[in-house]
Amino acid sequence: MGLEKDFLWGGATAANQCEGAWNVDGRGVSSMDTIPVGEKRQLLGTGEYPVNEIDPVNEYYANHEAIDFYHHYKEDIAMFAEMGFKVFRMSIAWTRIFPNGDEETPNELGLQFYDNVFDECRKYNIEPLVTLCHFDAPIHLVKTIGSWQNRKMVEYFVKYCLVVLERYKDKVKYWITFNEINMTVHFPFVGAGVIYEAQDNREEIKYVAAHHQLLASALATKIAHEVNPENKVGCMLAGGCTYPYSCNPQDIWKAMGKEREGFFFTDVQVRGEYPQYAQKLFERNHFNIGITNEDIKILKENTADFISFSYYQSRCAGVDQSLETTEGNIIRSLRNPYLYTTEWGWQVDPMGLRITLNNLYDRYQKPLFIVENGLGAKDTVDENGQIDDQYRIDYLRDHIKAFKDAVELDGIKLLGYTPWGCIDLISAGTGQMSKRYGFIYVDKDDNGQGTLKRMKKKSFYWYQKVIASNGENLD
Ligand code: BG6
Repeated sequence: MGLEKDFLWGGATAANQCEGAWNVDGRGVSSMDTIPVGEKRQLLGTGEYPVNEIDPVNEYYANHEAIDFYHHYKEDIAMFAEMGFKVFRMSIAWTRIFPNGDEETPNELGLQFYDNVFDECRKYNIEPLVTLCHFDAPIHLVKTIGSWQNRKMVEYFVKYCLVVLERYKDKVKYWITFNEINMTVHFPFVGAGVIYEAQDNREEIKYVAAHHQLLASALATKIAHEVNPENKVGCMLAGGCTYPYSCNPQDIWKAMGKEREGFFFTDVQVRGEYPQYAQKLFERNHFNIGITNEDIKILKENTADFISFSYYQSRCAGVDQSLETTEGNIIRSLRNPYLYTTEWGWQVDPMGLRITLNNLYDRYQKPLFIVENGLGAKDTVDENGQIDDQYRIDYLRDHIKAFKDAVELDGIKLLGYTPWGCIDLISAGTGQMSKRYGFIYVDKDDNGQGTLKRMKKKSFYWYQKVIASNGENLD
């Protein structure tokens, strides 16, 4: 019993939240660079807010410097190695490779940076797990062609994938196509760089953009397999099960609908075709998605090798409009009276992770990978320079126990676990630095002040023991 010997323990980040150096070495501007912190961030996230030029005088863009992983990667990867990481999840910034998205030739300096990062990982036998698109789209393509609502985007993305998959074929084996692909229907600007015009049929546009991403994901999978048949390519979902609020059949139906909002994507990426409820959704609403016979063939022939997902909380759904609601990763939920919430209102539910794993495995029988999980919390550095984040240890321990039960007692095939923000980074939802997830503290505040010094938290030493014991020692 226990986890497999080659279980991939590690941590996860994304280029737009940790690299900084947003305009260095030829990098172009991405959609995520245009989102300031504060209230406007929420507006831009929904696609309600017209994208403006970056306004460095009146606005603060936290990710422009972030934690400057771009210049600190050696130090950071050495610390990951010290914790015993077997895998490091990161993403490539599309705009480092093709600054505008539509150039003829890639930016060599951008390519070289990721060569260096992968070489550094390999030095410590850390397997890179690389997301091709973690929320970032070249702003040039957002402005000129409307980003993922335009089919042309597939072509540009494929070109970018051809370059990076070929270039890194001997350095990277594990790939993820789109981070939290279901974000596109909930938070279209973040998920797909979509900005609405007044006359737009918003619901239709979201699903058109989603189709283009699904198609692009299948094509990226195809290329990855052609370039190196050893490559393993995953889809990626903002996961978490949805419970019916009560046993009222109406609540159960509502919860089922919410689950299908996510399965909509994995059904296509894993089974290779749109499920019947998606087809009915398109029909009922007279959506013109533009799915061609060729698309259907591509989706069918290029399905994912594994299913990766983020898990922060479960959700609750029901028909009673008067019930209290709470925040969550992307999707608001009814407040579940059995659970406590984090400072940001995200409901904490380790058992929900076991349920999510079982739901996904029952449905698809494909290897699973938990590529995000963690507790966003405010940490304090005491007078001796120590950071006692016992609350984070407790959160992670309970979730590790839950996935171990799913593996050992329920028979789930799980490839690995990469807790989110293994080093503190910028929050995608709020732009805050103070919403910290890391084992490694980075000295920087919400206004961008700080030395960027890295410090080990209590959880750093705890996770080191967890990995060394392959999850047996969780004390
Ligand atoms: C996921 C994203 O939605 O959750 C990450 O893939 C994000 O990019 C993470 O950072 C945590 O969310 P937040 O809003 O706390 O940063």
